[in-house]
Order: sequence, then C-alpha cells, then structure tokens
Amino acid sequence: MLSTETLYALIEQATTAPSSHNTQPWRFRADADAIDLWADRTRALPVNDPHDRELTISCGAALMALRVAAAARGLAIETLILPAGPASDWLAHMEVIDGPVDAELAALAAWLVQRRTCRKAFADRPVATEVRQAVEQATLSEGATFITLDHEQKTRAAELVAAGDRQQWDDPRWRRELAMWMHPRRQGDGLTIPGLAAPLAQAVVRTFDLGNGVAAKDQQLASGSPWLALLLTDADDVLAWLTTGQALQRALLAGCRQGLQASYLNQPIQVETLRPQLQALVGTAASPQLLLRWGYPTDVLPATPRRPVDAVLECSA
Ligand SMILES: Cc1cc2nc3c(=O)[nH]c(=O)nc-3n(C[C@H](O)[C@H](O)[C@H](O)COP(=O)(O)O)c2cc1C
Repeated sequence: MLSTETLYALIEQATTAPSSHNTQPWRFRADADAIDLWADRTRALPVNDPHDRELTISCGAALMALRVAAAARGLAIETLILPAGPASDWLAHMEVIDGPVDAELAALAAWLVQRRTCRKAFADRPVATEVRQAVEQATLSEGATFITLDHEQKTRAAELVAAGDRQQWDDPRWRRELAMWMHPRRQGDGLTIPGLAAPLAQAVVRTFDLGNGVAAKDQQLASGSPWLALLLTDADDVLAWLTTGQALQRALLAGCRQGLQASYLNQPIQVETLRPQLQALVGTAASPQLLLRWGYPTDVLPATPRRPVDAVLECSA
C-alpha cells in the first residue's frame, strides 16, 4: 500500500531523470499499490526526434529512477513493460508486491539527485578500467551494451558529431524547435537560460545558423573526451528504447557513484543518414541509441529544473 507521501516522494525522484531538451515527456497515474507510466507526446520534439525514440528513452530513464527510488524505500516492484502493446502511450505498469527488494538498485538511490548532464570539458584524468566496467555492467544488467571507442574511433566519431551539428543547425525547423525549449528556470522544464537573456537567446538560435561554431566545439569535446562510449541495443523499436532508457539511467547512476558524469553527443544517431557510418565505425550490426562522453567534472553544477509532482501525477486512490 502506497501512502500519498511515499507516492509523491517516488514520483519526485522519478522526475530527476534526464530527458532530451529537458522536455520531461512523462505522466504517471497511481492507485493504492500500482503506478503507471505514460508517454506525454504533447512534449515531443518532432524535428529532432521524429519517431519519439528519445522521448521513449527519456521515459525509460524515469522508469529506472522510479525503480531505484522504490527499492531504496524497501519496496519490491513488479514491472510490466508495454502492457497495452507497442503502439500505446501506456509504457509501464508497476505493482508493489511481496518479494525481495533489489538491493543493487537501492544502493544507487543516493546518486539520483547528484547526477547532471555536464557539457563542459572534463578533467584531464583517465577513467580506469574497473570504473568503466562498473558502468558497463549496469548497462548490461538492463539488456543494453556499451562499446568503448578507441583513439582512432573517437577521432572519426568526432567528425560525425560535427557533421551532425552542421546538418541540424542548417535546418531552420530544428533551430526553431530548439529555441522553443530554451526557457527561464522558473518555467520548470526546457534548457535553462537566465530570465532576461531567454528571449534574445531564442531569437539568435532561431535566426542564425551557428552550426560551424557548435560543430568545432563538439568535435573537440568528442575527440578529447576521457571516455567515449556508444550505447547499443539489438533491436530498434519501442521496447528497445525503453530498455535503452533504463540502461542509461542505471549506467549514469553507477557512474556517478564512481565520481563520473556524462553528456551526450547523439548527433550522428539523430541524423539518420549518419547512423550507418557510426555503426560501420565501431563494426556492429546492433542499433546505436546514445553516444555518451564520460569523465570527471571540474566543477559542481546546479540541478536543472523539473515540473512539480502535481503536474505529472494523477491519483485515483
Ligand atoms: C534521450 C536523451 C537525449 C539527450 N540528448 C542530448 C543532446 O543531444 N545534447 C545534450 O546536450 N543533451 C542531451 N540530453 C541531456 C538533456 O538535455 C538533459 O538531461 C536535460 O537538460 C536535463 O538536465 P540534467 O540531465 O542535468 O538533469 C539528452 C538526454 C536524454 C535522456
């Protein structure tokens, strides 16, 4: 039986999950002993993410955050994925059951509020093999895989990232969509811009193709990253995207526990014509889902905003 207080705490922790453009494309419905996760497609990014792949990954990350939060409260949860099939917005049904609590998940809870997307260069410090293995293991336990890119592959992937940046910025629809999600912090979602600067920043992004500058910066970040890794799944469907999201969040928390943070260089996956080149680069037939740059941050970043629990939760208890 979930008390209202527990339910609110669980949903608050679930919403610490990352989401593309910080859209937070999730909704929760709950009764006395079950929580349902729904996709909120009013928060979709049709240009950046035409198939709702990243939207579904983001929901998967929230699902994992919820599983971690529940375990930390001593709750055993049975999760049914896609209870109404892959075409439905109903992504998961979680029921509190009598059973063993997942201690490995519970141990990650402290890192939910410490995790950040760190877009700056990381400290010039290598990521040790055993640290990488802890993150890889977290990914594997959710049914996805991380491939580490070697020096040569990193250089070539960095070129693809830059090519992706140039193609995205060249598209006024993509820029307009990005500008729409550049918000002042008080709004509770989107990519945070200081209040007064938001209208100007939005106008600049909408109007000018900054692709060359962004590409040069991202290429440098990618090739200079202490650890660049590609998250892959066997299939590329709604189920695989939910798997990706759960594996992502579990890996991010496992990494955070080791002092690592990550950021995303997904351009060669978002731009569909570049995806086969990325696959060929790492020599895999599996489906690339996310390209992540990992390392040790040089400063502590504030948390990005989230919408209040009441905005994402509907109770029927
Ligand atoms: C599926 C997915 C894709 C993302 N893609 C990018 C990206 O391409 N570039 C980027 O800078 N951040 C990307 N992000 C990070 C989000 O912008 C970030 O999670 C959000 O702004 C909230 O910030 P936080 O992660 O620090 O809580 C992505 C996150 C997710 C879950």
